This record gives sequence, C-alpha cells and structure tokens, in this order.
Amino acid sequence: MSLASRTTRITPSPTLQLSATVKAMLAQGQRVFDFTAGEPSFDSPDAAKQAAITAIQAGFTKYTAVTGIDELKDAIIEKFQADQGLTYSRSQVVVSCGAKHTLFNLALALFEFGDEVIIPAPYWVSYPEQILIADATPVFLPTPEAKNFAIDLSTLKGLITERTKAIILNSPCNPTGSMYDRGTLEGIATLALQHNLVVISDEIYEKMVYDDHQHCSIATVHPDMLQHTVIVNGVSKTYSMTGWRIGYAAGPEPILKAMANIQSQSTSNPTSIAQKAAVGALQGGPPFIEHMVKELDVRRRAIVEGFNRIPGMHCPMPAGAFYAFPNVTGLLGRRFGGKALSTPFDLANFFLNEAQVACIPGEPFGAPSHLRFSYTGALPVIEEGLHHLAQAIARLD
Ligand SMILES: Cc1ncc(COP(=O)(O)O)c(C=O)c1O
Repeated sequence: MSLASRTTRITPSPTLQLSATVKAMLAQGQRVFDFTAGEPSFDSPDAAKQAAITAIQAGFTKYTAVTGIDELKDAIIEKFQADQGLTYSRSQVVVSCGAKHTLFNLALALFEFGDEVIIPAPYWVSYPEQILIADATPVFLPTPEAKNFAIDLSTLKGLITERTKAIILNSPCNPTGSMYDRGTLEGIATLALQHNLVVISDEIYEKMVYDDHQHCSIATVHPDMLQHTVIVNGVSKTYSMTGWRIGYAAGPEPILKAMANIQSQSTSNPTSIAQKAAVGALQGGPPFIEHMVKELDVRRRAIVEGFNRIPGMHCPMPAGAFYAFPNVTGLLGRRFGGKALSTPFDLANFFLNEAQVACIPGEPFGAPSHLRFSYTGALPVIEEGLHHLAQAIARLD
C-alpha cells in the first residue's frame, strides 16, 4: 500500500501534539503549567449556550444549508457592517467548521501546483501545511523582531513573481502578537492590486487588542480591495468557543462559491446547534469580549514582565492576540545534565520535564529563536509557572 505523496509533504500540528502530551500528563495526575493552548480559559457566553439548548429542545438537529443558516449569515453580515463598514451579501459568506476549515476550503479553492503563496514569518503553523496540501508552494516573507515583526514592503515586492497567487495576513498575529498598521496595509494593497493578488486576511484575533492599538482590515484600505480580499474569522477566540467549531469567510462571490462547492462535497454544513450558538454569541457580544480582553491584558503584562526579569529571555509586549513570544537566544547553548540545549525544541522539552511548564517551540512557526506561551490561563497559574521556569533556568550550566 502506498500513501498519496501529499501526506509526506505535511507534518501534524505540533501545537495539538504538545497539548495532547500535556493532557496525558495531567491525566496521570502530574502537575503541569500549561501555556500551550490556543484557546481562552473562559467559559463560552451564556447567550451561546442558551441558544444551543433551545435549538436542541426545538429539534433543530438536522442538516442545514451547506454554507450556514441565513440567521447566522445575517449576524455575520451585520458584524462586518458594524465593525468595519463592509457590505456583504449572503452569497458572499460561507460558514464552516472552524476558521481552520475555512482556510482549508480557501486553499483548495484558490491554489494548485505551480502557485506561490506569500506568508509573513513567523506564521501560524497551519498556513504552509494547508498550502502544501493544495500542491502549491509557500514563500516566506521574513519579518524581523527588531522591527516589531512589521512587513517591509520592498522585501514583499521582491518576493512577488508571476506565480504569486496570494498573500496571507494575520493581524493580530499568532504567534508574535504584532499588528499591521494602516500605512503598511495600504502598501500591501497597492502591491496586491498591481499584481492581481488575493489577500487572505485572517482576522480571528481582531477583538483581542490592547493599549491604544487598533485593528484594521486590509479590505477597508482601498475601495478595490473588497474584490481582492477574503476575510477569515470565527467565534473560537472572540467568544471562547473553540469546541463549537464555527468559522466563516466573506469575500468575492466567485471564490466563496468555489469554497461552498468544496464544502458541499466534504463536510456539508457546520453543526446546526453550533450555528445557533454562534448567532447567540454574535448578538450578545460586546460585554463578554470587553470582560475577557480586560482579563487577558492583566495576564499579558504579568507574563511579559515576568519573562523580562529572567536572564536570557527577552520578550516584546504583544499588541494583540493572547500569546507571548519570548526570544530565547540567550538560553540556547546552555547545558543541563551535560547536554546542550541547542534549539527552542530542546528548551521546551527541558521546561516540560524540569519545570512542568509546557510551551510551544518556535521552529514550526518559522521562528528558530523563540518560544510561544499562551497567556490564557488564570493569573496565579501564570505566576507560579514563571517561578518554576526561573528556578529551572537557574539550574542551567
Ligand atoms: C491564526 C489562526 N487562524 C485560525 C485559527 C483556527 O481557529 P478555529 O479553527 O478554532 O476557528 C487559529 C487557531 O489557533 C489561529 O491561531
């Protein structure tokens, strides 16, 4: 038996793998300070839960329209209008089983062999893998930490070829927490329009923004960008609803129609009950989000300040999302038990075994000098985890 060659091009999600290791350790009764999870620790909003319960009791448990129920599409359309002043029709919206599924549909709808897709690095782990599954080639655009992970427009321009089909933006960014300002987005838009590129704008962390930072969608920076942008979003992060699996895209109708066709022959509709829950969340939104972001902000400051007190670690203050992304160059090469810790992967293993602190090494994000810590856990857990980390680091040669 031989497997399809695409299976040899991709690697399983390292974040999910590590989360599984942590869950197994916890199940064995071990104590772990878990900084791996890409999800808020908050409960889903009551409005979502109630809407789902009502849906179950009313027997709303059958297939729905493939691309989502009108009620949910209308709530999504209203969200785009209210938040960004963007106008979409129902045929320009597809609801899928999480934003990851949305992005997968999009990759299959847009990319094929020979296409190049530009991804700013560091990047969310699934972007290159999904592009590879679609037989296309990811092209990485380095964004240096010294420049706050900003996109340099001349570097971007230098990467665009006749084969370039799209660029993927993620602002706020997982894993760096950085955001693109309007000026940068205008520059990217000019290049996208000149070269007829699609911009995939993953705005899943749009509401998790701190201090005086402002989220801006590239679809809003030029009137023609609406026809060149597919916005990807969902309820997982904004409403702490990762398990419900509702993501969505809005954009040019031909692309959304192709995505709908792919979905109609693969998963069909996202779960009927979860769709109703998403309507509840979107309609009851702002108070829930405000409370969560305020809490996350406290945790953000605690973890970043904690890292910056540890010799060998250096952590910029993230503008958005819920990840701290310390540079650990100062620790690489240190030794424990006679063995050198040469890579973030070695360090992450050392932290897990010696400090019971679980984090994600930077390599799969295209960041060989960093670790990613999610700061969605409770503040006392963050503080205790930091303490254990500092103690373990003090034992390094
Ligand atoms: C940047 C980014 N996009 C998309 C997703 C997918 O979210 P979901 O499939 O839960 O909607 C994630 C989840 O970690 C993410 O970090």
